[in-house]
Amino acid sequence: MNSSEKEKVYREAIREINAVLLGESIMITKMSTINSILRNYFPKYFWIGFYVVHNASLVVGPYQGTLGCLHIPFSKGVCGRAARTGQTQIVADVHKDPEHVACDSRSNSEIVVPVFDSKKRLIAVFDLDSTEFASFDEVDKMYLEQIIKHQFAETPLEFGYKIFQQQTS
Ligand code: SME
Repeated sequence: MNSSEKEKVYREAIREINAVLLGESIMITKMSTINSILRNYFPKYFWIGFYVVHNASLVVGPYQGTLGCLHIPFSKGVCGRAARTGQTQIVADVHKDPEHVACDSRSNSEIVVPVFDSKKRLIAVFDLDSTEFASFDEVDKMYLEQIIKHQFAETPLEFGYKIFQQQTS
């Protein structure tokens, strides 16, 4: 897939994400839907998912793919580096990145986008892994950052379900 084909696929995926999530505010609902739609448009990205900030660490959240590591401290992994720096990380060859944490040996390249809410608080990181080397570039960075910014900073966001409130009222 060349750059312009990739851009076209991203634009179609974003149109679908925005349509499906119009009016939605629940965090895990947004995360799960983004994963599902992107996985469908980009099958070679075999792991797509979120690590959510919890007690100053990262815990695995909604994802599509093979079993992910459950906890990643800020001090470890490409995910930890994205969380620490607040900058998107593109890794062309994960085997050459000393900080990389291998959850699945088939991963050869990855991108991790930090997720901020409307108050610029880090709430998660968004991680995509590919079986191919150098899968991710500035096109992925631009569109993924756009998706994340729109869904978690520019539109309403609630963090959880009000399960108990519903049961007692
Ligand atoms: N490779 C990541 C860990 C998460 S998995 O790829 C799902 C990292 O280095 O932080």
